[in-house]
Amino acid sequence: MHILIYPDPILRHGGKPITEFGAELKDLADRMLEAMYLEGGVGLAAPQVGIEQKLLVLNPSGSKDDRDGELVICNPKIMRKKKHEFGEEGCLSFPGIQADVERWIDITVVYQDVNGEEQALKCDGWLARIVQHEIDHLEGVFFVDRLTATEKIRVKSLLLELESDYKARA
Ligand code: CO
Repeated sequence: MHILIYPDPILRHGGKPITEFGAELKDLADRMLEAMYLEGGVGLAAPQVGIEQKLLVLNPSGSKDDRDGELVICNPKIMRKKKHEFGEEGCLSFPGIQADVERWIDITVVYQDVNGEEQALKCDGWLARIVQHEIDHLEGVFFVDRLTATEKIRVKSLLLELESDYKARA
């Protein structure tokens, strides 16, 4: 499974609602988790692997040996949110870039699991940050879209490097 790198235009497409649940979706989620662990990530959204569906996987530990925190989230919606704070983020589609992003601290996410069952997840801190970052991917939004003006200037040259690498590969 191949992770798309900025500025691949497919990343901006986001995902469509999932209507088919079950074995095939579970297999896709498992392959996304494998790709995520392989690249050392803590979350991965389906559009990042070229699949335009509202599906994301995550594990706050980022470790294949500590899978208790693994989540497969379909069709998520953030229902309640409280306060916000800045924290550092990176993204598997933006190698080499870390930046401070403002996110909600306490959120409640309603979603469907891999079997289509309705679930609600109340979370905060690091997990809430990962969830918000990945949900953004489902809307074609990137963490670098959410930076302060100062951070935007700081990462500008790194983004230009990714853009020229992309052109060179095309
Ligand atoms: Co990302």
